[in-house]
Amino acid sequence: MNKPIFFIVACYLLMLLVGQTQADAEKGKEFFNDVEGGNCRTCHKTTSGKLIGPGLQNIMERHSEEWVRLFITDPQKTWEMDHPETVDLKKRVRGMKMQYARCQKAPMSEETKNDLIDFFKTLTVKE
Ligand code: HEC
Repeated sequence: MNKPIFFIVACYLLMLLVGQTQADAEKGKEFFNDVEGGNCRTCHKTTSGKLIGPGLQNIMERHSEEWVRLFITDPQKTWEMDHPETVDLKKRVRGMKMQYARCQKAPMSEETKNDLIDFFKTLTVKE
């Protein structure tokens, strides 16, 4: 094979790969607001104000990335876990005795989870 062409193709494939693994806050925001997508906006503000669920300002300050990933993957399963961050959430929303998470699960790919987490990072407000 012609060497320069091979090199160009290899670079292109590498770019595709990097593009896929890089999270995108803009895409996360779109998914968050899209009624056909995550539909998160129906219950969550991106400020500190409460709607149905807590306002998500500073969400990545309150929680570890690992926990947020668990929760957005499966709110109910995370609700049932004896995780310290779940206990904290239950206390904050006064849901200590509730059996069910009210947060709605939206089907999403791993890439979308990364995008959402990237978007959540933009909601951090430093005082
Ligand atoms: C039907 C309303 C509803 C929808 C839709 C919803 N949530 Fe929630 N969410 C809640 C409620 C209520 C809570 C508080 C915990 C509970 O009861 O589940 C919550 C909690 C959370 C938390 C933890 C907040 C904290 O302060 O610790 C995160 C993160 C979250 N939701 C993300 C999402 C994402 C991402 C979506 C969209 C894919 C979404 N939610 C859609 C109602 C909703």
